[in-house]
Amino acid sequence: MEEADAIVGYKTYVELVKDIIKDKEVVASGMRKEKARAEEAVKLALQGKCVAVISSGDPGVYGMAGITLEVADGKVPVEMVPGVTAATAAAASLGAPLVHDFAVISLSDLLTPWNKIMSRLEASAMADMVIVLYNPRSKGRPDHIKTAREIILWHRDPQTPVGLVRSARRGKEEVTITTLKEMLNYEIDMLTTVIIGNSETMVKNGKMITPRGYDV
Ligand SMILES: C[S@@+](CC[C@H](N)C(=O)[O-])C[C@H]1O[C@@H](n2cnc3c(N)ncnc32)[C@H](O)[C@@H]1O
Repeated sequence: MEEADAIVGYKTYVELVKDIIKDKEVVASGMRKEKARAEEAVKLALQGKCVAVISSGDPGVYGMAGITLEVADGKVPVEMVPGVTAATAAAASLGAPLVHDFAVISLSDLLTPWNKIMSRLEASAMADMVIVLYNPRSKGRPDHIKTAREIILWHRDPQTPVGLVRSARRGKEEVTITTLKEMLNYEIDMLTTVIIGNSETMVKNGKMITPRGYDV
């Protein structure tokens, strides 16, 4: 970002990095404008500018990396800069819930059919994977998280530990450890990442731990 001539991003994220970007050229737009942002970034790059396209967390995890590469289509070089994704940021705040195999599923059906999301939920639950849910609830789909929980409960004990982390590492972080049975009694929104343990995940000294299998 410091090296860039122009910054392109979702307006909330541009706001979060305003101290770094200072008075650089900024192209900020709202949700669902990802393709337009990528097109704008490529247009600026074709003018010879160094452009930073920003995402939250890691750009390659439900971020701008894919659409930017698709739109750039080899016309300009694109470099990926890895970041800390919400799953690992949330995990660090909860303890060590992702030390064994895990699946990451977004509950947003804007670009993915809901049937496919449900089948991925069931397959992951059946395979006893720890499950990380991104985009767990929005105004447009308040009930997806309820359905997701019901599907997971077909294969998992109601007492399975569940971690909820809201606004991880953004100054107003909220961390809750609960169970599959109780999780809906807590606020879950678009700023929350949900981590559902596997059959061995436990809570010890206030931390969520998925054992790797060591003899302790
Ligand atoms: C479109 S995805 C973007 C993910 C992002 N590229 C990443 O790697 O973290 C948005 C979802 O990520 C999760 N998320 C992003 N930032 C978060 C944070 N600071 N705390 C908790 N969850 C977060 C939420 O589930 C949110 O609905």
